[in-house]
Amino acid sequence: MGIGARITAIFGLGALLLSFSMGGLSYFTTRHFLVAERESAAQNQAFANALAVRSSLESGDKGYANLLASLDVGSGSNSILIHRRNVYQSSLSISESSIPAKLRADVLQGSVATQTYVAGAQGQPQIVVGVPIPSVDAAYFEVFSLSDLGHTLRVLGVTLIGTGVVTTLLGAALGRFASRRLLRPLAGVSRAAVAIAGGQLDTRLTPETTDPDLEGLTTSFNTMVDQLQARIEREARFNSDVSHELRSPLTTLSASLEVLEAEGENLPPRAQRALQLLGDDLRRFQRMVGDLLEMSRADAGSVDVFLEEVNVGELVQRAVEAGVRSLGDGAVMPPVEIAPAVQALHVGVDKRRFERVMANLLENAANYGGGATVITVGAPAADGDPGRPAGAARAGAHNGAITTVEIAVEDAGPGISPLERSKVFERFYRGSVSGRRGTGTGTGLGLALVSEHVRLMHGRAWAESSSSGGARFVVTLPVLDDEGATW
Ligand SMILES: Nc1ncnc2c1ncn2[C@@H]1O[C@H](COP(=O)(O)OP(=O)(O)OP(=O)(O)O)[C@@H](O)[C@H]1O
Ligand SMILES: [Mg+2]
Repeated sequence: MGIGARITAIFGLGALLLSFSMGGLSYFTTRHFLVAERESAAQNQAFANALAVRSSLESGDKGYANLLASLDVGSGSNSILIHRRNVYQSSLSISESSIPAKLRADVLQGSVATQTYVAGAQGQPQIVVGVPIPSVDAAYFEVFSLSDLGHTLRVLGVTLIGTGVVTTLLGAALGRFASRRLLRPLAGVSRAAVAIAGGQLDTRLTPETTDPDLEGLTTSFNTMVDQLQARIEREARFNSDVSHELRSPLTTLSASLEVLEAEGENLPPRAQRALQLLGDDLRRFQRMVGDLLEMSRADAGSVDVFLEEVNVGELVQRAVEAGVRSLGDGAVMPPVEIAPAVQALHVGVDKRRFERVMANLLENAANYGGGATVITVGAPAADGDPGRPAGAARAGAHNGAITTVEIAVEDAGPGISPLERSKVFERFYRGSVSGRRGTGTGTGLGLALVSEHVRLMHGRAWAESSSSGGARFVVTLPVLDDEGATW
């Protein structure tokens, strides 16, 4: 059970115990008090009537029926007179058997007795009072019905149970409310943790976002993030310094290599071959150091992103042309299909970064998929492909307006297995296809840089499969509205 549910249950249980114990206490106290009051009233009435019976029997001026009828009995009571072993009763609804045998015997032996009991199959509560009148060899009994009291007590009981149930529900509701209030500061902590995990390393907790009582947690959380940030920045700086330091010797090396290459024909064939291998590896190394430098700068947060507002169709067309040019002479320009719905839309991009993204995707398509078959620009497609992040289509629309565009590079190659789809974006990951093809030139940094560039432009990148079963790399970019702001 979660904390919230536990607090709710404790409050509900507390309210239940409290309301039912209070209710029970009030019920039994009230019942005791009411019964005692009725008993004393019944005794007073029975004594008064016994006195009237005695004087009437002593004077002997009335018949038994008249005598019993003349007594002052309320609507809820009946009298029984035993005179010289004969029994007379005031009403047909009562008989001698209404009197408990023990009480009857006690009274006939000369003692006054009162008893409250439940009589008959219907379970009607009754009070019976017996008064001996030894001077005339008689005993007077009066039976009082407590059925009205029973009704009152039943109503009271039902009311108290109802109140108890309502109090319990109110207690549980209060518990739920309290747990929400209590857990609210923790939601602040979780939001901060999510923001930090998302790369916003300068996020900190403040007493306002959490709670003054959680000061200890706030302080230790912030200290932890401080240390984490310092460490990440230190490592990123180190990486960036290493890459930077490698660049100057590499420049010298490649300049020297160019000199050697210019003299290439004069060298023996074996030296020419060695020179060629050296040149290939040096260029690959140089490219890797450039990529690493770019990535470590992004990690250290010391990158400048120049977002410009440009028409998405023109942007993609130009970037594809540049990308194909960089592939070399043999490369063919794939068709660029721009959906009519997005033709007039503008996006905010850093052109240099976007060109790098397209160049990397086109180069991968050429290396691993036999060349890009088509480049599409359109509104987010419906969710469906397993590689597609959930909710990509929903996130791409707002009140019917298109808020992100999807730019996809497709090829008809072997594609990427579902297991590899997120891995290919990891640094230095080189998939099974690259090994098989034996291109041998890649370092596994291309797609990691793609996702880094796209993230800096507030977009996303992922891999799915094209309709022909090849790879389809999708990049999304946020659309700018009429004021040039993102939605
Ligand atoms: N279009 C594609 N079809 C099939 N597999 C691909 C495709 N694009 C990339 N991959 C797989 O993803 C891996 C990672 O690609 P990435 O571009 O990051 O690295 P690379 O091309 O090997 O090296 P680099 O781009 O740094 O020179 C590739 O090695 C390849 O296995
Ligand atoms: Mg690549």
